[in-house]
Amino acid sequence: MNEIAGEILAILRRYLSEPTSRSLLTSAARRASVRLEVLSRSEIPQLVQQLGPGLNIFLQEPEKLQNCKSLLALVAVENAPSVHHYSEPQPPQAESRPDGISVPIRAEHDVVRARTLGKDMAKQLGFSEVVQTKVATAVSELARNIFQYAGTGEIRIRRIEGKRRGIEVVARDQGPGISDPALILSGAYRSKWGMGAGLRGTKRLVDEFELDTHPGLGTTVRIRKYAE
Ligand SMILES: Nc1ncnc2c1ncn2[C@@H]1O[C@H](COP(=O)(O)OP(=O)(O)OP(=O)(O)O)[C@@H](O)[C@H]1O
Ligand SMILES: [Mg+2]
Repeated sequence: MNEIAGEILAILRRYLSEPTSRSLLTSAARRASVRLEVLSRSEIPQLVQQLGPGLNIFLQEPEKLQNCKSLLALVAVENAPSVHHYSEPQPPQAESRPDGISVPIRAEHDVVRARTLGKDMAKQLGFSEVVQTKVATAVSELARNIFQYAGTGEIRIRRIEGKRRGIEVVARDQGPGISDPALILSGAYRSKWGMGAGLRGTKRLVDEFELDTHPGLGTTVRIRKYAE
């Protein structure tokens, strides 16, 4: 098993025993037709996707299942091939505002950028590693939806000061809107990719979740996560 496969095994080990983790990973690798000894970053999404069914069986607690899938989804996003652009010099893309940061979402690497900025702010606020990951996952799911379904939009991230300290993220686009948001949030809807946290998963990761969508006009999602 190489280092990349080791990273995935380490996530599974947080939730499952060593033998179960290894056997899930091995059988997922077989189904995904990848070899763990020479796993490449570009093969991660297909491997992670094949882990889904096994996790559903072995991880009975919904909270743990969701967190584990979120972490795996993050590895897949972080390692997506297009992320390479991210380290190249680029014009400034995040504008600092008095009330927070605004990140335009126009391309795949903006999704990763928004995720990183969300995680950084959660870290600055002193959130635990797990909560930082939840915030990061939520931001990346919302940003990814903008990129996938609306094409372009904006993510705003700001601190909430006051009695309850926390972080607020607003994802806004002027895309096609969502025709049946209630269905999607009910869980009856099955997301295409299956491993992303999706809107429903995002709702579970945060303390407050508001979805405002109008067919033909656009979608705004506002989430808040408070310090514990
Ligand atoms: N910003 C958006 N604009 C338009 N439609 C959206 C937007 N966000 C989500 N949708 C619609 O809502 C559906 C559910 O989104 P959700 O993020 O829950 O799952 P998914 O994107 O299909 O899969 P996953 O996020 O798990 O990869 C999408 O398939 C899409 O049709
Ligand atoms: Mg989605």
